[in-house]
Amino acid sequence: MFGPKTHCIVVVGAQWGDEGKGKLVDVLAEQADYVVRYQGGANAGHTVCIGDAQFILQQIPSGILHDRCTCVVGNGVVLDPETFFQELDGLAAKGVKTAGRIFVSDRAHLVLPYHKLLDKAHEKSQNIGTTGRGIGPTYEDKFGRRGVRVGDLRHLDSTKAVLSERVARANKLLAMMGGTEVASEEQHHALLDRLAPRLLPLAFDTGRQVFQALREGRRVLLEGAQGAMLDVDHGTYPFVTSSNTTSGGAATGAGIGPTAIDEVLGVVKAYTTRVGNGPLPTQADPETEEELRKLGGEFGAVTGRPRRCGWFDATVVRYSVRVNGLTGLAVTKLDVLDTFAEVPVGTDYLLDGQPCDDLPADVQSLERVNPRYETLPGWRRPTTGARRMADLPPEARAYLDRLEDLSGAPIRYVSVGTRRDQIIEV
Ligand code: IMP
Repeated sequence: MFGPKTHCIVVVGAQWGDEGKGKLVDVLAEQADYVVRYQGGANAGHTVCIGDAQFILQQIPSGILHDRCTCVVGNGVVLDPETFFQELDGLAAKGVKTAGRIFVSDRAHLVLPYHKLLDKAHEKSQNIGTTGRGIGPTYEDKFGRRGVRVGDLRHLDSTKAVLSERVARANKLLAMMGGTEVASEEQHHALLDRLAPRLLPLAFDTGRQVFQALREGRRVLLEGAQGAMLDVDHGTYPFVTSSNTTSGGAATGAGIGPTAIDEVLGVVKAYTTRVGNGPLPTQADPETEEELRKLGGEFGAVTGRPRRCGWFDATVVRYSVRVNGLTGLAVTKLDVLDTFAEVPVGTDYLLDGQPCDDLPADVQSLERVNPRYETLPGWRRPTTGARRMADLPPEARAYLDRLEDLSGAPIRYVSVGTRRDQIIEV
């Protein structure tokens, strides 16, 4: 996708996350100089398979697996520092050299132990089905202007004083929610002491770094986490994550202007999954759901939770094309559908008996929609060996053509397996 006029590409999830962005980023990173994560935190889990080795990356961009790529954790990310260093150590143990190739924005907010305690306590009453990684409470602190940022580690004494106040506040909230767990001030101070020497050498104004790279004609990939339907503005609120997962978040979260972005690639599964609670209009009957889950290995990369599964929902993807300004689609996991005799596609909805081809804003309406389906013939042949569109069975091509028509954006990639080489560039 990179070319003389395409230097900056955003890759976003166009459904509920877990679409296989990690693999697409891995493929595109081969031609990229920089890969930047711009939102979310350790709630994400990007699985990349190289040969027999499997890497699950949570906060470090998948570009780290390409030697020539510089990786950036942008200002829009909420950084869980301990998990971050565990990931770095895990990569080193597998022989991946990261020194001098990973930078963290000094404006990124830190996820601290008290955020995780608050996340778990809120979950008892809110029941969103969060990953429990402290994401919501950290973004609450950020927007409430109470957060602690990576750059604050440069001033340990004053930051510790602020943190003491934050911990006391968190403990009051925890007590109000009837919890028994208490955040420890000493533990938080000790954490800062431990972190500062290791994190500060990686901390920079990464927005400036990315801006300069683009000026010099370098190729930059902006890597989103989760998916459009989990966006705090555009998703199935309140069953969403706490950041802007859509492409607009890429500019603010990477620290560059939106005019720098040339293309936005939306990654979609050939069917639909969701982990966590909230509406999922095309959720299949339990038997089909189980089959899709088994064939697609649909268990959360971070939490191991079984994902809810259903057919492709074109209303969701059409909406995603609109709110992300998608210039192309990457369809993943086509091979998971290889054995089905028929493949239904949700074309639009009926809401209280009336046709509805867009996403209602309120979750109550979305819970009431009835998807309308079109059933396409299955291909009942393996697609895992296909490397060109012409290698695909005609029924599989017809299926993809229909997804493209209904979604309103051209398909640029089709992924037919977990391995790096199992991809078709259209
Ligand atoms: P949180 O991001 O942990 O606050 O969780 C909010 C919602 O987003 C829950 O439904 C999670 O299951 C979902 N979620 C968060 N991260 C991911 C992801 O990477 N993939 C899929 N779902 C996610």
